[in-house]
Amino acid sequence: MLRTHYSNEITEELNGKKVKVAGWVQEVKDLGGIKFVWIRDREGIVQVTAPKKKVDPEIFKLIPKLNNEDVVVVEGVVNFTPKAKLGFEIIPEKFEVISKAESPLPLDPTGKVKAELDTRLDNRFMDLRNPKVMAIFKIRSNVFRAVREFFYNKGFIEIHTPKIIATATEGGTELFPMKYFEHDAFLAQSPQLYKQIMMATGLDRVFEIAPIFRAEEHNTTRHLNEAWSIDAEMAFIESEEEVMDLLEELVVYAIDYVREHNEKELEILEFELEKPKQPFPRITYDKALEILADLGKDIPWGEDIDTEGEKMLGKYMKENEDVDLYFIYKYPSEAKPFYIMKYDDKPEICRAFDLEYRGIEISSGGQREHRHDILVEQIREKGLNPESFEFYLKAFRYGMPPHGGFGLGAERLVMRMLNIGNIREVILFPRDRRRLVP
Ligand code: AMO
Repeated sequence: MLRTHYSNEITEELNGKKVKVAGWVQEVKDLGGIKFVWIRDREGIVQVTAPKKKVDPEIFKLIPKLNNEDVVVVEGVVNFTPKAKLGFEIIPEKFEVISKAESPLPLDPTGKVKAELDTRLDNRFMDLRNPKVMAIFKIRSNVFRAVREFFYNKGFIEIHTPKIIATATEGGTELFPMKYFEHDAFLAQSPQLYKQIMMATGLDRVFEIAPIFRAEEHNTTRHLNEAWSIDAEMAFIESEEEVMDLLEELVVYAIDYVREHNEKELEILEFELEKPKQPFPRITYDKALEILADLGKDIPWGEDIDTEGEKMLGKYMKENEDVDLYFIYKYPSEAKPFYIMKYDDKPEICRAFDLEYRGIEISSGGQREHRHDILVEQIREKGLNPESFEFYLKAFRYGMPPHGGFGLGAERLVMRMLNIGNIREVILFPRDRRRLVP
């Protein structure tokens, strides 16, 4: 390898020893008789100090010719000294430029000179050299790791379902159509129907982490056209409340994991990630409407709570209950998809829930209707044709246990966790109304 140590691995035991570091030139300082180079790698920065009397004259000549962001490999001796800003320096014995950077740069990777989001996204490779941006993606990686770990610990089996599909799942809107040879097909909006089919197999508890595709027409700070969904489905449940328990535990596990493993990144982001207050309150849809009415916002019963309403509720829950995370449940059946089970004794409401994180929905789920004939009826009620759901309905005719699950938006989770205002900040190459490249 071209390096023996990352910057953060250089500890006092290495004092006087030889190491090889590699990375991007962050800054060069020429004080005549002594020259400095700061080299940045994934984990931080090292200082290379080149006093004229101590280093090879070739190295001394090379340093002033460096451009910011050149990729270099430096071999030298570690010297711990209070004179160095970072507590140590490397006195170079070999100094090699292995890739030159053009000048000027498309943006300032230190973040000192602010760039527009579009410029940053157009030059994502350089944007991530900014430690604050990189910190977000190191945290995102750990969120996915925590989620997988959680599900495996809980006895869930990871599944992978098709992303090219023939039938809409979430009501027929927001679909990306595509040609599949001589057939019309769509990009999957959700693994909904497939994860439910898995409940008829005996796998019992499954999860999937995969992209979902939604042709959202509008540019908002919380919608993407390609997002990552964390989906779970479990069988033999007695009510949607058990699914809410699982989702609560998962979200707390992911937050705890980041608190524990990303201390450095949270510090770079200057963000204090609080331990969520548990249990997450569960408020009914009716109660939510009541709160909103008191706050001066009337939502007709049956309608979904809009963005403004969600935001107002988030503020209310923070001020009155001191919570960031809470569920809204017992939704009107007309506001939710056909696959959600209605209450037998009160069919105008159903067993669906949303999880809200500081006024933004990060997940929705519920108990599903597993009784074939009622399900067919519910498909019809939504104006859909049961024939086009035959591949799905079939799984309900040969022994289907009661089941439920949720879809948790990974970007929504990360953006709310870190209190980031724009969802584009937490996905490498966002797909939105205008962005298809890079
Ligand atoms: P829903 O449509 O509410 O439910 O989606 C679930 C979660 O996915 C995330 N999400 C999005 N994130 C970013 N951009 C988007 N355009 C976008 N659309 C959705 C949100 C949302 O809460 N099948 C059900 C889930 C279930 O019942 O299991 C579903 O897809 O965080």
